Amino acid sequence: MQRILVVDDAEVNRNLLYNILEDDYTIDMAENGELALQKLEERQNETAALLLDLRMPKMDGFAVIAEMRKKGWMHKIPVLIISGEYSVEVENKCFELGVSDFIRKPFVSSIVKNRLKNTIDLFVSKNQLEMKVEEQEETLKRQDEIIRIQAEKLRETKFFNKMMMEYRFAIMEIETRLKALNGEFSQEYNRNPFESIKSRLKTPESIYEKLERKGHPVTLEGITEYLTDVAGVRVICSFPDDIYRLARLLTMQDDIILLREKDYIKNPKPNGYRSLHLIVSVPIFLSSGKKNMKVEVQFRTIAMDFWASLEHKLKYKKDVDETDEIVGQLKVCADSIETLDYQMQEIRNRIDRTKK
Ligand code: GTP
Ligand code: MG
Repeated sequence: MQRILVVDDAEVNRNLLYNILEDDYTIDMAENGELALQKLEERQNETAALLLDLRMPKMDGFAVIAEMRKKGWMHKIPVLIISGEYSVEVENKCFELGVSDFIRKPFVSSIVKNRLKNTIDLFVSKNQLEMKVEEQEETLKRQDEIIRIQAEKLRETKFFNKMMMEYRFAIMEIETRLKALNGEFSQEYNRNPFESIKSRLKTPESIYEKLERKGHPVTLEGITEYLTDVAGVRVICSFPDDIYRLARLLTMQDDIILLREKDYIKNPKPNGYRSLHLIVSVPIFLSSGKKNMKVEVQFRTIAMDFWASLEHKLKYKKDVDETDEIVGQLKVCADSIETLDYQMQEIRNRIDRTKK
């Protein structure tokens, strides 16, 4: 049985409440504030609720609450005021001080029982929820800390830094091949198949986190074997057909091997994401010889890139309100962008035809 503490200077009130609640609770009683605090001192962890009178000699109910607030007990034990005729101001003040509810005189057995039970249940579930959230926050903090420390270790490792250098060379290699194609096109046909290239090397934090999450060893072998996006090149094109042309010209080069292709333009993700992803292997040349490196190359139009950057922001903001609505709006935009991309391409084709 749960334990409660009834505090009232009038014996008749204490007895009335005792009779109503004795079947459901173990009941402690106190006739003034001082005694109440003494009992709470002994039993704060076992007391499920405090039924407290306000007007009492020696130490009144407000003084008890003030003391409980000081000791941080208001978060542990719900307080219900045994109320005579109190003004609205007094009741409001009680709520401001953290009181949970009022039990009014004359006591009606069923109402007293229900109010008390509801208050205790609510308090227990609120506290459990708070504890869970705290635990989760703690776990997240610990995980972040582990990631930070492990990433720092990687940064200090000579072989890891050498490997990152190799991935940087691979990025440079791919960029050069793409820029050469762009240059050739601009000279031959007076147009650029891509607008810009953005490249990035995966951070040690992100490398550690991904390997760990997928259950792979965090070693140089683990990186080479299981990660395909340490080196990332993003090519932003003006028109969809440039994407396929460029991708074909790149993978046709006889030392570049296409390891995997994901065409999210022909098969967009359910959220509306569209891009062409290639995982390619490209050789780099070191003093020790030739080495094949994996690079993730993403091709998108300017409009798709615009969309993806905004959608990416949503992914990292977990506390955005109306997320469902935003997801829906993004999907609508993705569909408009698809239409727009092909309309623009069609216009360009017409302009090109009239030029001839
Ligand atoms: P990752 O573990 O995220 O690399 O996914 P994956 O291995 O299944 O590869 P996928 O080709 O699906 O995605 C690779 C990369 O494409 C991601 O790291 C993002 O940069 C980008 N990407 C994929 N899906 C989305 C998306 O829905 N929205 C945005 N903004 N970017 C995406
Ligand atoms: Mg990735």
